[in-house]
Amino acid sequence: MPKHSWAEPFKIKMVELLKMTTPQQRKKALQQAGYNTFLLKSEDVYIDLLTDSGTSAMSDQQWAGMMLGDEAYAGSKNFYRLEEVVKKYYGFKHLIPTHQGRGAENILSQIMIKKGDVVPGNMYFTTTRLHQELAGATFYDVIIDEAHDSSNLHPFKGNIDINKLDKLVKKFGANKIPYVCVATTVNMAGGQPISMANIKELRKYTAKLGIKVMLDMTRIAENAYFIQQREEGYKRKSIATIVKEICSLTDGATFSGKKDALVNIGGFLALNDDKKFEEASNLVVVYEGLHTYGGLAGRDMEAMATGIIESVNDDHIRARIGQVLYLGDKLNEMNIPIVNPVGGHGIFIDAKKFLPHLKQTQFPAQALAAEIYEDSGVRTMERGIVSAGRNKKTGDHYYPELELVRLTIPRRVYTQAHMDVISESIERVYKNREKIKGLEMIYEPTYLRFFQARFKKR
Ligand code: F0G
Repeated sequence: MPKHSWAEPFKIKMVELLKMTTPQQRKKALQQAGYNTFLLKSEDVYIDLLTDSGTSAMSDQQWAGMMLGDEAYAGSKNFYRLEEVVKKYYGFKHLIPTHQGRGAENILSQIMIKKGDVVPGNMYFTTTRLHQELAGATFYDVIIDEAHDSSNLHPFKGNIDINKLDKLVKKFGANKIPYVCVATTVNMAGGQPISMANIKELRKYTAKLGIKVMLDMTRIAENAYFIQQREEGYKRKSIATIVKEICSLTDGATFSGKKDALVNIGGFLALNDDKKFEEASNLVVVYEGLHTYGGLAGRDMEAMATGIIESVNDDHIRARIGQVLYLGDKLNEMNIPIVNPVGGHGIFIDAKKFLPHLKQTQFPAQALAAEIYEDSGVRTMERGIVSAGRNKKTGDHYYPELELVRLTIPRRVYTQAHMDVISESIERVYKNREKIKGLEMIYEPTYLRFFQARFKKR
């Protein structure tokens, strides 16, 4: 087979210089941050893989769009352009801009959920589940079992197990389930996609029961890429076509523009139902801002509209995911235990397998993230027991099957050489893994504890 490499479909026009640190500086920074990578100062970080959220590089077109910001309080022309783009690319009828994804989650939860309701979803996401709980619902995970196994090679580990959903319907009754929350690429499972066939099956199942399907379309273009590559009948379909088909099978969506849409801030709630749109329009003014800006400047809405168009470009997505796969291949060659198949937005190291000598209550993923930072200044994030939080009823930790460290790749920011440096650091840490100690939590916030918790070495 002739070789056919991908390369970035852009060239670099401006750069941001990085600071290198010494091992002593990193050791001190880590102690000051209570071994929580969220509490490190960004200037002490060399390669920042904390998140792909709001960390992407905007294009010259997006920056040019920032100068076209219409900063009127009401009826900004950038709102109308964003509305047009959302209709054209996603097909939803109504748009409510929000400052970011969780702003939309708050409003959606409030207009859809009654106290005592049940919300099933393909694995939880931290902010999404919390908003559902704050609105009075209990979240139930209905993802397929394969998603909880980091080495299972199922091509669509984000799929919903319709049998698990059916059991919930039988137990609680369809009238207690306002909607199923469907994420395109499941973040906490390792960026794993859901198949079109599964979404269609879900639509068929829920339609007859009157249960709505609400999408978390935060990384929909990345999910569409996996459908194009892996699902029968989609090889010749464009990312844009697949994205629109996914949306057409749902009733509405929450969106964090900070991922796929290549902006540093922004999000929205999209709905097809007129009545629910009216309720959401009423609430957005309480929490976000007027319904034509929702907490965003006009320039932010302009950049997001352009970013949405760029996000569904086939060459863009191929290079974006190509870079993630490049790093994944390197780590697999080194036999580092990672979630396979590699997902869309990053590499997820299996900390239980990396550090088998630590118990989950010693926070292995948190300890590993700290160790990687100390080795090379590469900042990663815990996605395990700390992120999972506590069960409100029992007060005990949730014990997620997956105890992961996430190496999240920002879009259009780092080069292949950065990926090489990252893999070498992980290899060094792996060689010394037996010496890595567990952590003890010494400060625990009430909500979303992973952001601000502090630890000390055991
Ligand atoms: N849904 C998913 C799947 C997400 O990954 C995020 C954010 C949100 C919703 C919330 O959006 O941050 O704009 O309020 N994920 C970030 C991350 C924070 O690092 O994975 P937001």
